[in-house]
Amino acid sequence: MASNMTGTASLQGQDERALTAPATINLSGNLPPKIPHVFDDLYRSAVTAVIAERAPSGLIAAHSFRGAPRDREAGTKFLTRRLPEPPSADRVVITSGTQAALTMLMTGLVKPGGLLAVEELSYPTIRQFASMLGIRLCSVTMDGEGALPEAYESVCRLHRPAAFYVLPTLHNPTTATMSLPRRQAIADISRKHDVKIIEDDIYSLLPRDLPPPLAALAPDISWYILGTAKSIAPGLKVAYLVAPNASEAESRFWPGVRATYWNCAPINAAVATVLIEGSGADQIIDEVRLETRARQRLVSEYLPDIAKRASPDGLHVWLELPSSLPRAEFAARTRASGVEIGTSDTFFFGQGEPPNALRFGTGTAASRKDLEQALGAIARTYKVIG
Ligand SMILES: Cc1ncc(COP(=O)(O)O)c(C=O)c1O
Repeated sequence: MASNMTGTASLQGQDERALTAPATINLSGNLPPKIPHVFDDLYRSAVTAVIAERAPSGLIAAHSFRGAPRDREAGTKFLTRRLPEPPSADRVVITSGTQAALTMLMTGLVKPGGLLAVEELSYPTIRQFASMLGIRLCSVTMDGEGALPEAYESVCRLHRPAAFYVLPTLHNPTTATMSLPRRQAIADISRKHDVKIIEDDIYSLLPRDLPPPLAALAPDISWYILGTAKSIAPGLKVAYLVAPNASEAESRFWPGVRATYWNCAPINAAVATVLIEGSGADQIIDEVRLETRARQRLVSEYLPDIAKRASPDGLHVWLELPSSLPRAEFAARTRASGVEIGTSDTFFFGQGEPPNALRFGTGTAASRKDLEQALGAIARTYKVIG
């Protein structure tokens, strides 16, 4: 009873704080917008179908190293959203999200003490994983399309990295998308120098018209990861990894590696399968795309004359600031007006000073109204310190 009373008191305290504290709109992440009117029913019926169709003991009574055959088969279908041809199911590994695939590949392909090349701006988590795993990093200079072939060639020649972690489509954080000739050049250099490609294509499912992945140009040296976190739901924790061939998939993701942490929870893989086999995945992705486009239109409306990189199908925006607007001051001022945005510093893997830039996501705001409020605060910050 006493503990109940304490619990009630502290809950009341929280409610009071929520009523008095100004709410922060956090745009520092880049999740897809929530679309409950479409997602909730599709997800509920997919869970129901899984439980009805698959015996629970068959589903979860044993570890599933590369994924159940039916789920890997569904993965091959999903992968044709990006790959020109379905890969054979024995090249597919289902992992618990992209991060699990990345740590396995960093450990297996690069190894502790080894060198991984990354674009000079990239997904910040790579730094955490590299430090956890004792992997060294070297960076590749970029232009508006992403990694520069000349810079990549010289990194390969001088430093001989074991692999290149690359985001060729709607790059995080810059939104750059490599053209087909750029992809071809990067693939050719990788092959010439025997550098494995770890391609993270997580932002590629909303745009409709894209060049093929690097993995389609150089399948023999590519490990291709198509995660669902940015197009279906981050908590689903399902990513489809395509290995260069069946024997590499098997030798890196089998009981002999004495770990199981990358395994996708079977219920999640099975729910994804139901969504892919029917029209659920299509409906969810279409709706996320619609909402994303509506939000990007708001970005153009509120920040019309501001130098930025954005795409109608992108979950984030990259603001390149003039030197008169230091990024740290800009972010501090928007924070003071209740809006959290990220500076370039966390994304920077290069030499010297990070670019004077900011990144914000359009999907994390709970509603378009919240996003408008946040964009208004960003626009006002330009006026105040610009
Ligand atoms: C480039 C990139 N890869 C992977 C992830 C995370 O993927 P997952 O949640 O599937 O591990 C993110 C999330 O921000 C990301 O930006």
